[in-house]
Amino acid sequence: MKKEQVVHCQFSVWYPIFKKLTIKSLILPLPQNVIDYLLDDGTLVVSGSDHNTQRTQTNSSDSDGEEDIQWSDDETTTTVTAPEFPEFTCKVLEAINALGGRVFPKLNWSAPRDANWIALNSSLQCQSLSDIFLLFKSSDFITHDLTQPFVQCSDLDSPDPVINYELVLRKWSELIPGGEFRCFVKENKLIGISQRDYTQYYQHVCVQEQQICQAIQDFFSQHIQYNFLDEDFVLDVYRDSRGKVWLIDLNPFGEVTDSLLFTWDELTSGNSLSANQDEGETAQQQEGPAFRYTTSEVTVQPSPCLSYRIPRDFVDLSTGEDAYKLIDFLKLKRSQQEDGEEEEEEEEEEEEARQ
Ligand SMILES: Nc1ncnc2c1ncn2[C@@H]1O[C@H](COP(=O)(O)OP(=O)(O)OP(=O)(O)O)[C@@H](O)[C@H]1O
Ligand SMILES: [Mg+2]
Repeated sequence: MKKEQVVHCQFSVWYPIFKKLTIKSLILPLPQNVIDYLLDDGTLVVSGSDHNTQRTQTNSSDSDGEEDIQWSDDETTTTVTAPEFPEFTCKVLEAINALGGRVFPKLNWSAPRDANWIALNSSLQCQSLSDIFLLFKSSDFITHDLTQPFVQCSDLDSPDPVINYELVLRKWSELIPGGEFRCFVKENKLIGISQRDYTQYYQHVCVQEQQICQAIQDFFSQHIQYNFLDEDFVLDVYRDSRGKVWLIDLNPFGEVTDSLLFTWDELTSGNSLSANQDEGETAQQQEGPAFRYTTSEVTVQPSPCLSYRIPRDFVDLSTGEDAYKLIDFLKLKRSQQEDGEEEEEEEEEEEEARQ
């Protein structure tokens, strides 16, 4: 995978080409001060200047309980106030309204899929910039886009292309996970299709295997093949309840993209791919792409994003990566201990009084 391929898979590059085939979206350039704010590790306070929400999220040192904690040796503790971006906030709200009031947010490549657990609605559905910031600031996938978009490229020695960061707002659409498929395209040929949510068994996929595979192949050959800037890429599609296929996303053909029920070794080896192994099919028996899906309840697996659900603070503490967090944590522990000791003393006094 070359850096150029990653550049081509940015939303603002592929969207104009395939606009009619996908969900309506708007792209806003991300101002540098917003990028800085998103990358600022110390601030998990979410700017709340837009009127759609009053919520704020704070890290341990600035939590609501701050007044209860006696900072005995640090009188200079300051409350972190969230920076505000009035002009950008206005543009974002305008765009959200133009898209029907509820949006799915992304950066140039990624959505904050690893952070949905932190949102109050446990979803990526956003109605305000505060909702978006909360997800973005909690997401490793977003940080990856901002800090190392070319990390797995083979031409690492060549200079990094300039990236203009963008906030992508997509009209919120209730997509049923069983209708989502990832398609692997090599040399402009559709070689493999994988159920996207491979953690679940969907009976309808099993029953309609042929129709699904055919619908995706038709969609690919009619609308996508030879129309993209590269000949190797990964295409995410959605087949709705009426059988119509939609484009959801385009991704680089390489390890940064999850190969789901295939492996990258298989996909790049040049050998024909087989469909679901447990059906005993061989590569020779099939024509067209290999179609893989979860074939029974037995093979159901845990959701891959579950591992992201540890609060960042715990990770930082356990690896000792953020010294300030460690200091905050120790202060908190000490004040808890002192509270505990005070309580014990009170209990002893009460006990004595009772005797
Ligand atoms: N407009 C939308 N409304 C609601 N949900 C959406 C929307 N677009 C995408 N989704 C859901 O979010 C999931 C992730 O979206 P998308 O593929 O754009 O993110 P991504 O970060 O590019 O993911 P990946 O890293 O796997 O390529 C999709 O599989 C789909 O279930
Ligand atoms: Mg993607």
